[in-house]
Amino acid sequence: MKRLVINTIEKKSKISKDIYGHFSEHLGRCIYEGLYVGENSDIPNVKGMRKDVVEALKNIKIPVLRWPGGCFADEYHWKDGIGPKETRKKMINTHWGGVTEDNSFGTHEFMELCDQLGCDTYINMNVGSGSVQEMSEWVEYLTFNGLSPMAKMREENGRKEPWDVKYVGVGNENWGCGGNMRPEHYANEYRRYSTYCRNYTDKKLYKIMCGPNNDDYNWTETTMKTIGKRGTYTSDLISGISLHYYTVPGVWEHKGSATDFTREEYYTTIRKAYKIDEYITRHSDILNQYDPEKEIGLIVDEWGAWYDVEPGTNPGFLYQQNTMRDAIIAGVSLNVFNQHSDRVKMANIAQLVNVLQSVILTDGENMILTPTYHVFDLYKDHQNATLLASYIENETIGTETDKIPMLSQSVSVLEDGTINITLVNMSDDKAEEVKVITVEKTTGEVSGKILTGEMHDHNTFTDKEKVKLADYTDFKVESDGVVMQVPAMSVINLKIK
Ligand code: AHR
Repeated sequence: MKRLVINTIEKKSKISKDIYGHFSEHLGRCIYEGLYVGENSDIPNVKGMRKDVVEALKNIKIPVLRWPGGCFADEYHWKDGIGPKETRKKMINTHWGGVTEDNSFGTHEFMELCDQLGCDTYINMNVGSGSVQEMSEWVEYLTFNGLSPMAKMREENGRKEPWDVKYVGVGNENWGCGGNMRPEHYANEYRRYSTYCRNYTDKKLYKIMCGPNNDDYNWTETTMKTIGKRGTYTSDLISGISLHYYTVPGVWEHKGSATDFTREEYYTTIRKAYKIDEYITRHSDILNQYDPEKEIGLIVDEWGAWYDVEPGTNPGFLYQQNTMRDAIIAGVSLNVFNQHSDRVKMANIAQLVNVLQSVILTDGENMILTPTYHVFDLYKDHQNATLLASYIENETIGTETDKIPMLSQSVSVLEDGTINITLVNMSDDKAEEVKVITVEKTTGEVSGKILTGEMHDHNTFTDKEKVKLADYTDFKVESDGVVMQVPAMSVINLKIK
């Protein structure tokens, strides 16, 4: 038996709801088909947005959505995506499959989608191939309330009121697809672009600087040095810095199949997914030197598993299936983000629908919820809750080459005092008994939900509910705690009132 000790007295950081954020790029079938089918489609829609997808996303309380990319963002010219659809410019999506982008989904459509979802907006600006003027005019078009050329243009396009924009990204992966810049050069560009990214309302824009990939500590160090220590610049300059990390089981040329993998590959994948903990810790150590008060958020705005595309699909569309292995990746990663919620203020899994580690897959009018979707469902009550200090007795499992801890947990307290636990058992063959002991809290009503299965289990369009949530009842309330039976390969949410 292992013990999970929860210190209800030691309240830690608030878990930003935006850690449960998502990402939608003009890539493959994410926007077109996945989210947007157009008003004339036979697929039920509201103003072109798929009703089934919007409903499913509202159920997991999607808090924020990032758009239009990714690499696409640094080639996107927002004025191509406004005005009458018939006259919108058609372009080539050079990054993703070389397909024609007809710009029928643009600024107004994105803001409408977020409105239907009831979520906050995160717009990634173009630094790589855009200009300061183009970016500052987009901000004016989106948020200025008054007499100005961009506000007038917005009104002519049918929208008088400005929108609420919470986050803006100033470039994406500018060390790579966003211009192949060196860190010092990019950071200077960032200072310039950010200056003209004006605040037109009392609600200040949350400005995000392009941060590192994986373990590129030099990028973090050099860009932060160029920005300077907190207090040496106006607080308007920067609010957050991004971090991208993808879990690739194999090598870039042969990443591995999403569904056909060995036990060894399973452990390699989870070991690699767990690396996010080390990366966040070490990038945070650098940020602490420049911003000890932790005012600058670490924004993990691209994360998740990246496999070879499904056989027979366009290699540029990044369409992949999603198994219980992905559920474990999601559970572990979200626990890590919660545990680092003093610094991590947003995370956006890549990507929302039909691309990489999606929560939803679609095929024509059909839709399936992936195992990853169910993890977001299990974890949704952590949003805006307070992280509690917790400690779990653990053991090392895995193979000769890939060792990982068996259990991962995070614990928060909800507004009504309910203790909210999410627990992952990463072992493929070993169940465990876990005794939950809470310091200074009497155990009231206990309830739970569980996601479990064999590591390859996944949902298909002919077997839509092979992997789904079930009520979790395999626990016993004792005088000094709750004893849980935790199956192998499971993700559990337990609530103690
Ligand atoms: O999510 C797919 C791509 O991965 C994004 O466009 C890019 O930012 C990253 O390299």
